[in-house]
Amino acid sequence: MNKKIKRNLLSIRDLSAKDIEQLMRLSISIKSHPAGYARSLSGKSLGLIFEKPSTRTRISFQVAMEQMGGSAQYLGPQDMKLGTREALHDEARVLSRYWDGMVLRTFRHKTIEDFASYATRPVINGLSDRSHPCQVLADLLTIRERVRVKKPALAWVGDGNNVLNSLLYLFAKLGYALYFSCPGKYQPAQDVLGEVREIAKKTKAVIETSATPEAAVRHADVVYTDVWVSMGEEALREKKLKEFEGFQINHKLLAQAPKQPYILHCLPAHRGDEISVEVMEGEHSLVFEQAENRLHAEKAILYWLLK
Ligand code: CP
Ligand code: NVA
Repeated sequence: MNKKIKRNLLSIRDLSAKDIEQLMRLSISIKSHPAGYARSLSGKSLGLIFEKPSTRTRISFQVAMEQMGGSAQYLGPQDMKLGTREALHDEARVLSRYWDGMVLRTFRHKTIEDFASYATRPVINGLSDRSHPCQVLADLLTIRERVRVKKPALAWVGDGNNVLNSLLYLFAKLGYALYFSCPGKYQPAQDVLGEVREIAKKTKAVIETSATPEAAVRHADVVYTDVWVSMGEEALREKKLKEFEGFQINHKLLAQAPKQPYILHCLPAHRGDEISVEVMEGEHSLVFEQAENRLHAEKAILYWLLK
């Protein structure tokens, strides 16, 4: 097989702290001088293959390619079902001969890993059940811009999901602090926690589970939440809504924080479930800056992988 050496972005787990810093420097440079990068991906094409819906990830990658002189094609759930019409490894090899890079959004993380192991062009994880690396790089950019402390402390209140897994790797690698409070059985994956705790020993990161949302926010410069019902879990909605009672980010909970923390949410949000309207629309909410930063951080990812 004509397999060139190439990089992927499948998980924050695969990045070194140096890679993360390089991506942040690039994000800041591209955000402040977009014209300087307007032809940097000229002639390059990006494919997006999504098994689940998307607003931010899909559009920000498409616009990023356009603003850097390249092009993008989107194949949604109706256009292509990975590994159905032919073997996944054949699709990966064929599509690598057309596109310079691919963004995949899949139900199973393993689908992206398998695809990437046969693709001869860079593969980017645009969200799987396991992780959402592009999201948390944009989150880090937002935190660096707005939360002016050397080692920020983040409280996660809610589901132990894909976004939390990625934040755990990110915060562990950077030596920051992450306190998480998730109800009952909705803790982050045990293997992720095991690995992250090993990383934290070396970097002196603080990775702690908090018994209650109140205990988690007590340390926080930033409070982060996400939907309680992720894509693909719709059948669990009624059950999860009951189990997550008391885990809403609202003014009462935030009164436990030492000073008013900034608020992050990857969006889409369900106002009135995981976050109150007042907090989402409040002056400390960074959720729309965070959404904008998807564009700048993804330009950096594309430049890093495709250039
Ligand atoms: N935050 C995020 O990934 O949003 P989309 O699902 O709209 O892409
Ligand atoms: N945890 C959510 C994030 C959406 C951006 C999901 O997987 O649906």
